[in-house]
Amino acid sequence: MSILITGGTVVTSEGTQEADVLVDGEQIVALLTPDASADVSVDEVIDATDMYVIPGGIDAHTHMEMPFGGTSSADTFETGARAAAWGGTTTIVDFAVQAKGTSLLATLDKWHAKADGNCAIDYGFHMIVSDVNEATLKEMEACIEGGVTSFKMFMAYPGVFYATDGEILLAMQQARRTGATVMMHAENGIAIDQLVAQALAAGRTDPLHHGLTRPPELEGEATHRAITLAKVAGCPLYIVHLSAAQALDAVAQARDDGQNVFAETCPQYLFLSLDDLGRPGFEGAKYVCSPPLRTREHSAALWRGLRTNDLCVVSTDHCPFCYKEQKELGRGDFAKIPNGIPGVEHRMDLLHQGVVAGEITLPRWVEICSTTPARMFGLYPRKGVIAAGADADIVIYDPAERQTLSVATHHMNVDYSAYEGMEITGKVAVTMSRGRVIVADGEYKGSPGHGNFLARDLNQYLL
Ligand code: URP
Ligand code: ZN
Ligand code: ZN
Repeated sequence: MSILITGGTVVTSEGTQEADVLVDGEQIVALLTPDASADVSVDEVIDATDMYVIPGGIDAHTHMEMPFGGTSSADTFETGARAAAWGGTTTIVDFAVQAKGTSLLATLDKWHAKADGNCAIDYGFHMIVSDVNEATLKEMEACIEGGVTSFKMFMAYPGVFYATDGEILLAMQQARRTGATVMMHAENGIAIDQLVAQALAAGRTDPLHHGLTRPPELEGEATHRAITLAKVAGCPLYIVHLSAAQALDAVAQARDDGQNVFAETCPQYLFLSLDDLGRPGFEGAKYVCSPPLRTREHSAALWRGLRTNDLCVVSTDHCPFCYKEQKELGRGDFAKIPNGIPGVEHRMDLLHQGVVAGEITLPRWVEICSTTPARMFGLYPRKGVIAAGADADIVIYDPAERQTLSVATHHMNVDYSAYEGMEITGKVAVTMSRGRVIVADGEYKGSPGHGNFLARDLNQYLL
């Protein structure tokens, strides 16, 4: 099947150009001037006049079907990938979660069983390491051979995923030896647990106290500690879901000092705030995630960080739990509210608002949502770019279309929208995954088995 996308503005991380895009089979084969494309004969022509033609979004941080807090995140790989496609994301990198006492390779098998044959878009895995021992460290090598080249660790959640500084150092040393990237959930979980116990003992049980017991200073401290451990071990470090100005300062300092430290933030930290956690009744539970939503000054710092490249990726940390049956588990005890916010469908649209508002440029939008995640996680130039030889993961985006985000219209398998009623300028018109149109004309045309597992290379900023 050959397709010619005509009349659009091709946007890459490098800039914009008026060009037609020729797709043959699963790949982009050429960018053509309109004159040159007049002579081409193809099976289908897609008119992209007045629209952007961008590389499909890469969401490097999702949690489909993730066991957490006594329940499981509500999107399967099937429903989550469908929602992602609607929102212009054509690749997800999800987290396989090692349970204590289990092996990394058995974990990987388990995640393959969840995703293989069920995902409509291409997907890869990071590995969450929660049980550091000799066998685990050895297995990191086999994971890398299997295309899982990044390992997430937690300074938060004592008793669940938490790793001590010593364990983190060991894993980082192994990352140094193997070339892997360590991803860090940087919050001081030991101190936070004391604050949580104090709040609950004092009868402060509302969702707002989830935010108040996880102060930004404890994210800043943990981020600085993670950076120090990575420096001693000599491994690359990627801070996930960075939310606080204090943490950003630590990252900026490390980068200025020449250390291989990278960081992502998420749309919820740019567009939502602590005020949402304080919504009346139990509604704040919809906004419980960790690190928590912050005050608006932090969001302003994050937008700045996206401009200066101290924040180089925006991922969603999509981790949906239904309000009625799952968030409910924490009524009367905020510490029992499953942590996570749904968002895989909205990242491209939300970050486009950053373009509309003048916070970031159009090429930067593409860079932080697609090109840099591709390079960071070993997928470039197969993904993350519109160029000959790349996979035809292409989004045609209408910058003038208006839409209102709502649970009534979204496609994620969750009973609320964290962005209910938010008016958006811009909308996906067409999503293509490896040359196949999976969203067009307001219809979903994908199928569960279309997505391939992506065996990823090492971090390409370090090669
Ligand atoms: O609240 C969050 N972030 N839930 C998902 C798990 C994690 O820490 O990324
Ligand atoms: Zn985390
Ligand atoms: Zn996460």
